[in-house]
Amino acid sequence: MYKDNSVNDSDGRHLLKTLRLAVWRLQNADQEAGILARVRKVLDRVGGAYDGCRLYRVEEVKGGQKLSVHTLTPDGYWRSLEGGGDWVLEAWRSASTCCRVPKLRGERDWLAGQLSRGVGAILETGFDQGVLAIYREAPIAFSDEDAEILEGLGEVLSGLYYRLQDLQQSHAKEVQLRQVQKLQMVGQLTAEVAHEINNPLAVIIGESSLLLEDKMESMVEDGVRAVYKAGLQARDISERLLHFARGQKAKKEWLNFNRLVQETAVLVRRTLQNEQIEIAEDMEPNLPWVEAHAGQIQQIVLNLIQNSRDAIRQIDGVGRVVLRTSIRQGWVTLQVEDNGPGIPEEIWSDIFEPFFTTKEGDQGTGLGLSVCAGIARDHDGRLLVEKSDRGACMTLELPLKQSAVLASN
Ligand SMILES: Nc1ncnc2c1ncn2[C@@H]1O[C@H](COP(=O)(O)OP(=O)(O)OP(=O)(O)O)[C@@H](O)[C@H]1O
Ligand SMILES: [Mg+2]
Repeated sequence: MYKDNSVNDSDGRHLLKTLRLAVWRLQNADQEAGILARVRKVLDRVGGAYDGCRLYRVEEVKGGQKLSVHTLTPDGYWRSLEGGGDWVLEAWRSASTCCRVPKLRGERDWLAGQLSRGVGAILETGFDQGVLAIYREAPIAFSDEDAEILEGLGEVLSGLYYRLQDLQQSHAKEVQLRQVQKLQMVGQLTAEVAHEINNPLAVIIGESSLLLEDKMESMVEDGVRAVYKAGLQARDISERLLHFARGQKAKKEWLNFNRLVQETAVLVRRTLQNEQIEIAEDMEPNLPWVEAHAGQIQQIVLNLIQNSRDAIRQIDGVGRVVLRTSIRQGWVTLQVEDNGPGIPEEIWSDIFEPFFTTKEGDQGTGLGLSVCAGIARDHDGRLLVEKSDRGACMTLELPLKQSAVLASN
């Protein structure tokens, strides 16, 4: 016998509401299974009695749809659907909730195979990415309340799959962004290394060519000639490296600094929001324009925000990064301030050194700040760490040039 199915309406709505919230708070894609288990619990608690349920996923792929099925049990998993696709697609396309009996023998037999029992009544709801269905062995219709709960669950599942898609996209974007940052860093570092190597090379080439002008024992002369030739080869390589690195550097141009900072923040705001980190802006409205390389300045801003994000991960509670622009004693400045644990004063002089990192494993290369400081120097500016009441405050200073136009933001 089926239980009297006068659903406790407010109970059902409450459960759906908390489930919806859980979906919106989802932080990572591997929480799908947990949500599906909760969907099943809602069905068990407030849905009318049923003998089986299935969740079908419909994914648009090249040349059609891919169908998969889940049993909604805690140990359940997605497997591809065998047979029955037409009925699932029909329910999906209808995008509505309906109570019906199985169609013809074909569907009846297919369901019997799926559920290992006969099916006399079906309640199904089609949502954007699939179909949720519950089944009864006896041909007793489901109630309107059951339909309402199922439809609510369909909406939750739709929200779930949109959210998972969002999370995947922002993850992919972040990976891409990091990759670009690393490549830019490599370019910058290459230029610096090549530049540094050119000085000793000049000595090697110069001194050996001077020696070759004198008479020497032939064995010594062979040796010096080999040194000279190797020096020329090395210079050739370093010239090519420099050429490659310069190729990545476009010309500096006059930039609306506030806008550049704001546009850079847009790139990461969403990803950070997902981690409960807010990026706030405090922009000086009358900031003069700066002469700079947009891509490189963006790289600094991204690196500083990335460092703040890594730091904030060490604290509990809501994170906050403030991007503040101002004019200060001949400089146009950007401060990136966060509410992380801060940077201990005893390492202030180390953090700009290449490969200095306090991050474990492969979490950090320790190149971020050294590359950023190099970029700041290339712009006749500076990158500094400053005292802050809480958290860390990094400041980028760019020279305030006389010819700078006042920005009309
Ligand atoms: N906002 C911050 N809060 C706390 N510590 C920071 C902050 N920014 C930088 N640091 C410290 O400075 C060190 C050096 O930073 P840097 O950006 O050069 O390298 P990294 O972040 O460790 O590695 P990578 O930038 O390659 O990921 C960090 O390891 C960290 O100890
Ligand atoms: Mg860093």
